[in-house]
Amino acid sequence: MIDFKQAIAELLSAHIEAMSTEEIYETLEYPKHEDMGDYAFPCFKLAKTFRKAPHMISADLVETIGTHEHFENIEAVAAYINFKIDKGVFAKSVLETIAKEGDAFGSTNIGENKNLIVEFSSVNIAKAFHMGHIRSTMIGNALYKIFGFLGYNAISINHLGDYGTQFGKMIVAYKMWGDRDLILTDPVRELVKLYVKFHDEAEKDETLNDTAREWFTKLENGNQEAYDLWAWMKELSLVEFDRVYDLLGVHFDSYAGESFYSDKIPAVLAELRDKNVMVKSEGAEIVDLEEFNMPPALITKKDGSSLYITRDIAAAMYRKNHYNFEKNIYVVGAPQQLHFKQWMKIIEQMGHEWAKDCVHVDFGTVSLEEGSMSTRKGRVIYLEEVLQKAIDSTKAIIEEKNPNLDNKEEVAKKVGVGAVVYQELSNNRIKDYTFSWESTLSFEGETGPYVMYTHARSCSVLRKADIDFKSGVDYSHLSDDASKDVIRLLSKFPEVVLESARKYEPSMVTRYVTNLAQRFNRFYHDNPILVDDVELKKARLALVDATRQTLKTGLSLVGLAAPERM
Ligand code: ARG
Repeated sequence: MIDFKQAIAELLSAHIEAMSTEEIYETLEYPKHEDMGDYAFPCFKLAKTFRKAPHMISADLVETIGTHEHFENIEAVAAYINFKIDKGVFAKSVLETIAKEGDAFGSTNIGENKNLIVEFSSVNIAKAFHMGHIRSTMIGNALYKIFGFLGYNAISINHLGDYGTQFGKMIVAYKMWGDRDLILTDPVRELVKLYVKFHDEAEKDETLNDTAREWFTKLENGNQEAYDLWAWMKELSLVEFDRVYDLLGVHFDSYAGESFYSDKIPAVLAELRDKNVMVKSEGAEIVDLEEFNMPPALITKKDGSSLYITRDIAAAMYRKNHYNFEKNIYVVGAPQQLHFKQWMKIIEQMGHEWAKDCVHVDFGTVSLEEGSMSTRKGRVIYLEEVLQKAIDSTKAIIEEKNPNLDNKEEVAKKVGVGAVVYQELSNNRIKDYTFSWESTLSFEGETGPYVMYTHARSCSVLRKADIDFKSGVDYSHLSDDASKDVIRLLSKFPEVVLESARKYEPSMVTRYVTNLAQRFNRFYHDNPILVDDVELKKARLALVDATRQTLKTGLSLVGLAAPERM
């Protein structure tokens, strides 16, 4: 794409000796009103060197510059020079760039040869994969795609919660009340029931907790029975989790969860001791973080066992050694802020300068109308159930509106899942929200299906086109306001992608595609496309094609499919 701002800076610098091209570039402003032009150059600073009043400088410069093919108008208004970009030149530059770059439009190579980890989803074995987990899963998936698009070698890791005393509890519960065949009928739900039962029973009988701790120690020490039960529960859980990941189109390069680090912990503890970062305290070991205004971090318990934070420290060290990451991103809810601050500070205290490359990307909480979600209280909505209901509703709509559609099942799956995912990624991640079946299953207004449908509509127009619009297009036909609005927004796509990566905010891309869909629909409403005037038709088709491409890429970056028919 032509960088018009740069072109203006160069044009001016040929006539202004006192300023470099870069300085002029930095000085350029936007005029107060769009109809005055696209860029404005203020001449105040030149008064000294030119020994003239600023309004005379602007007038003189305009006269010397004369005209230029990129601009419809170059005009002096008081002390400013206003530049109005030629709409045809602008349209040509944007639309031809998109046509030429195709799927790569908006991508960069700024991440070339740099490893970047996005850790996300990180669900817990033998627990519900619930609606709350959609947040980390889809925000993380989008960041993984966005950074990949910017050229990074992005690596997705699912830091499975597959370790800790709760597995001692699960083993005890299974041995006391478990029924293998029953569990096999509906594994995670049945395991969750056992987990809930354990907590109810432990309230009456404290000793159960001790037994659970003993079983966890056995598991840590490689006891075969404990290991087999743990491995079985993990396997059953992963079958279900993978079914959900499949529906969501989410892929992990690694499932190295908490248990993966258990044999890497001793070396980390040794380093913490050698560097005097960790001290003994009542038989346990802690890192004092008082000078950083944080409570102490407990690293080993009295019985020597590790904790959640210990495994996070070991995981970060392992990842640095194994992947030599440029950035190590954790997509985890805001309630864990302190935990992340603590362990990142500990890594820094150990003298690892790369602590600064670890980033906690946090987000707000999803609650239910009846309160926060809690597996233990049995108050959860399974994500798979939400996705399935959304797919069913979509199927019903297709049956009603487009019963002859090919691949109905496939399209219903993509659109239904897309509706749920879009809702998740349409707001700033830090916002809390309350889940409601009604809004999740409503496809009215600004929704995923709306954007997807707009994409399918553009595909349909292009299918009906009986003409080559890839060459010899006269872009001056695209000077009406609706076309101009679409093209202007198309030109912004690369910036939006970059900015969403910088802020770790996929919702910027979601909002962008929504905006683009709305502007495109306005264009489509105002401008018949398949008209008799061949030149006009070609120009409009070129715009439709560029919109189709950009919607498709934008949707894919936030993990949504873009079916061509729906
Ligand atoms: N499994 C944890 C939970 O459900 C989230 C893990 C987050 N990642 C991490 N490296 N600590 O709370």
